[in-house]
Amino acid sequence: MLCLSLTGNDCRTCLTQFQNHRESVELLELRIDCHEEIMIEDISWFLESVTLPVILTCRRTKDGGKYAGSEKARLKLLEELMDLDFRYVELEEDVRRPDLEQKAADRSIRVIRSSYDLVGIPDDLYLRLVKLRRRGDIAKVAVTANSLDDLMKLFRVEEELHDIPEKVVIALGEYGIPARILYRRTGSLYTCCLPHGADEAAGHLSPEILRDLYHADRVNGNTRIFGIIGNPVMHTSSPKIHNPAFDQLGINAVYVPFLVDDIRAFFQLADILDIKGFSVTVPFKQQVLPYLGKISREVKLIGSCNTVYKKNDLWQGVNTDFYGFLSPLQEELEAQRIRKALVIGAGGAARSVVWALRNYYCKVCIVNRTPEKAEKLAGETGSSWKPVSQLDTITDVDLVVQTTSGGMTPYEEVDPSLGYAFTGREIAYDLVYKPKHTRFLKRAGAAGCRQVFGMEMLLAQGVLQFESFTGFTYPQKD
Ligand code: ATR
Repeated sequence: MLCLSLTGNDCRTCLTQFQNHRESVELLELRIDCHEEIMIEDISWFLESVTLPVILTCRRTKDGGKYAGSEKARLKLLEELMDLDFRYVELEEDVRRPDLEQKAADRSIRVIRSSYDLVGIPDDLYLRLVKLRRRGDIAKVAVTANSLDDLMKLFRVEEELHDIPEKVVIALGEYGIPARILYRRTGSLYTCCLPHGADEAAGHLSPEILRDLYHADRVNGNTRIFGIIGNPVMHTSSPKIHNPAFDQLGINAVYVPFLVDDIRAFFQLADILDIKGFSVTVPFKQQVLPYLGKISREVKLIGSCNTVYKKNDLWQGVNTDFYGFLSPLQEELEAQRIRKALVIGAGGAARSVVWALRNYYCKVCIVNRTPEKAEKLAGETGSSWKPVSQLDTITDVDLVVQTTSGGMTPYEEVDPSLGYAFTGREIAYDLVYKPKHTRFLKRAGAAGCRQVFGMEMLLAQGVLQFESFTGFTYPQKD
């Protein structure tokens, strides 16, 4: 189940939050600790107005909530509110009140017995869940994942405690995001999400993202897991390329972003989750190489890999950036209309670009802010290079490729090609896709050049990746 935490400061706001997301969730949590004033009649009206089961929660500040009154007053309030039509009530592990438990039982309200750790994962996580469950309550832990090791502990919960069917595992923090999307793989009954506009500091995902993009509620034991590894990784658009295509072809699979701190730990996690394939982004495109059993010619040539998938129990690496980059230029390359290219930048992305162009026998000149790197890449690829100060001397090129992160949000004012004068005859190609119209492309467009947008390459490499992952052709849009 997807559970919407209603964090409005009164019942009317909470009702609006419910109405905005009613199609996406199956359970509500009424966070009365967020209410400015707790009005029993209003809460009763709210419960009559909603059509989903509701959890009664009054979270203390020490557990990350807003209730700052005395514990005695809080428990009295919970006791009173249990006269209303709640399906569940959350009581923390240290609350020892048999009278409250009895009242819950009498009113057929299930107790969710919770334990919070806002800074990490307790060493006794599994034992804690067993203890929370002891009186027949639903055991809930909300803990903070600070590393992939932490995330692995959460994905081992089900393996360790599969005989506890009624448990809730809420993973806080950015490293915990895969456990929120794949909550069913942690054995959790539900995962929590926040309404639009709520505080999203802890890396919460909206109900619509969880349901419509990741289909989190459909993940089961047979779902094949794919993903992207990187650091940072949450800005990636790749889930929007792969998940809708799985859906369209009726493939039971999900593609999840993994924030990675340690590549070795990720391969352990890949075993635990039986991950079938993943995209690789900065800074792991080289670091991943020692873990691969087989690599393609392009990976060997470029020394970097952006796509890994499992075949015959062996991790195989290919580089779809190479062909993805070439894809929007295919016609010109085949007609041999691109003979000379200028490449701005000499990092990982530039490596793929230069090798791909050299593969078509283009002459390439590399210009980079740090000239030593341009010289090195030029030496390795049989290209020429020039310092940035000589950009104004470069003429007669058919293609200019901007491979640096200069110009990317939030550095939109940067144009690393400044000094180069567009003639209008060359193709201008920017690998940056956010924003679409970079300063580099605007300048080229104003001179009359054909522009190739970063999104074209992103999609082309994603399509090839999808085919490596699944063996299926990427579907046409409906
Ligand atoms: P990627 O894998 O995305 O290419 P990278 O390997 O870190 O990332 O390389 C980044 C490239 O962008 C480098 O060529 C870098 O120039 P330096 O070698 O001088 O660092 C270039 N770059 C990044 N920010 C830039 C900026 N503001 N202006 C010009 N070049 C920039």
